Amino acid sequence: MKHETPPTVRHSPQVSKNERQQQNGHKSCVLWFTGLSGSGKSTLAFEVERELFRRHMHSYVLDGDNLRLGLNQGLGFSQQDRSENIRRIGEAALLFSDAGLIALVAAISPYRADRERVRSFFSEDEFIEIYVKCPLAECERRDPKGLYKKARAGKIHDFTGISSDYEAPEQPEIIIESDRHTLKESVRLILDYLRDNGCL
Ligand code: ADX
Repeated sequence: MKHETPPTVRHSPQVSKNERQQQNGHKSCVLWFTGLSGSGKSTLAFEVERELFRRHMHSYVLDGDNLRLGLNQGLGFSQQDRSENIRRIGEAALLFSDAGLIALVAAISPYRADRERVRSFFSEDEFIEIYVKCPLAECERRDPKGLYKKARAGKIHDFTGISSDYEAPEQPEIIIESDRHTLKESVRLILDYLRDNGCL
């Protein structure tokens, strides 16, 4: 006899997202940092989180490198695996924002279609794409994990910017030029955006 997959029924929560936001005293949203490896996404996301925490705001960083140690363990760097990586991070960010938090995502997220798919999970004012723009030559000069050197030596395949594409955002909400702005200035730019858009 053929077994059917029973339909999944969504439960309705007793506490709404709106109530959570009211109790927290701020809206929830997603700050999605995209850019090359070494462009400064994680540093910036953690610094913004620190500043939000100081202001008693509820936030959490979903960092690509860190998530690959757990939730996204086993995924590699093929286009397919990166798409799945970004989809899962997007779903996690959706849960965090539903829980009333400001989710900060730091992931290369090199493909425009993957980022646009995640954007479609959210309402228009909830998804804030931040392009951490930095020339490849500068990322390579920084090379904080020594990965560019390995990629150039052919020891790492499909490395973003070297042997795998990075599709820059066309209309990001914010652009941070990390080779031109200091960390402090960059944090300021992001907080100003949040304030101007009623998120703070
Ligand atoms: S993404 O492309 O799927 O968004 P993600 O942000 O999760 O990437 O992980 C990127 C990190 O993985 C880099 O910062 C780097 O430390 C490491 N890494 C290892 N191999 C690669 C690779 N082939 N391309 C890019 N990053 C890599």
